[in-house]
Amino acid sequence: MHRITMIRPDDWHLHLRDGEHMRAVLPDTAKRFARAMVMPNLSRPVTTTEAALAYRERIVSALPPGLAFQPLMTLYLTDNTTADEIRRARQSGMIHAVKYYPAGATTNSDSGVTALVKCETALAAMEECGLPLLVHGEVTFPEVDIFDREKIFIDRMLLPVLQKFPRLRVVFEHITTRDAVRFVMATPARVAATITAHHLLLNRNAMFIGGMRPHHYCMPILKREEDRQALIQAALSGNPKFFLGTDSAPHARGAKEAACGCAGVYTSHAGIELYAEIFGSRDALDKLEGFASLHGPAFYGLPRNQDTITLVKETWDVPKEVPFHEETLVPFRAGGTVGWRLL
Ligand code: NCD
Ligand code: ZN
Repeated sequence: MHRITMIRPDDWHLHLRDGEHMRAVLPDTAKRFARAMVMPNLSRPVTTTEAALAYRERIVSALPPGLAFQPLMTLYLTDNTTADEIRRARQSGMIHAVKYYPAGATTNSDSGVTALVKCETALAAMEECGLPLLVHGEVTFPEVDIFDREKIFIDRMLLPVLQKFPRLRVVFEHITTRDAVRFVMATPARVAATITAHHLLLNRNAMFIGGMRPHHYCMPILKREEDRQALIQAALSGNPKFFLGTDSAPHARGAKEAACGCAGVYTSHAGIELYAEIFGSRDALDKLEGFASLHGPAFYGLPRNQDTITLVKETWDVPKEVPFHEETLVPFRAGGTVGWRLL
């Protein structure tokens, strides 16, 4: 197959940043995706309904004319999130989930949760009003090896929460290991997972080919080849528990090429094309629409998109860097090529 037309996809996990940085990256997503679940980890985290609605307004006003993109907002869970705040979020109709970051796990997670048990009131309210919990599924205990963070999270954090809140809906975000794939497959339908393009395309060697590659550094960190193979199987399986979430996370070039560089890979410039590469290379393009356009809305109880996109198997060059407000950012495959193109 050299061409595929499919229902327009959605990105179920995206970092848009704010202000001029957001203006720089938003068109890449809005050209490809109808909707995106917008992460709340701004430098001042989005912890209230009021802040989320104001952020949504800023995104909508920054949209280039003619693009009907819809931002789906999330709330940043803290130790102090109240049941009232959860209910306000639900009633707004604009906030579709609550995001859990373990304190200190990743970019702007300092106000993240120190122990999920402290959030019982919020989690109970979410369970009651049907607002899903999105988890950054890693523990940050200093004694845990960085490559084991996800597995230990499953045992010590996720399982107890699922047991304690039997009706809470959970999305295990950007899963990276075979353990996570197996876990999600074994749980009831209320647990789903997103998978990024970069975790499908790269294993951890990609961080060290010929030298240190800071643009392949992200959280959760890239894993082993056997993990990547498990993710590919899950994405291609047609199982509705798995859907697309790019976790595209733009950082200025200087913030990544640094003595203590930021985590995050920018993929929105090829946000659907990179997935087409993987599905195409495995002769599974017929499974792409489910993964990218159908499973997500089904999980969140949202309508399917009405229009379609067409992708063609044509190679195009990715620039070495692109403008990012007063700096630049280095996109995924910078200076290389992508094998599918959006018509
Ligand atoms: C994200 C960011 O930069 O906001 N970084 C990343 O490596 N994925 C945060 C996150 O999702 O962990
Ligand atoms: Zn993320």
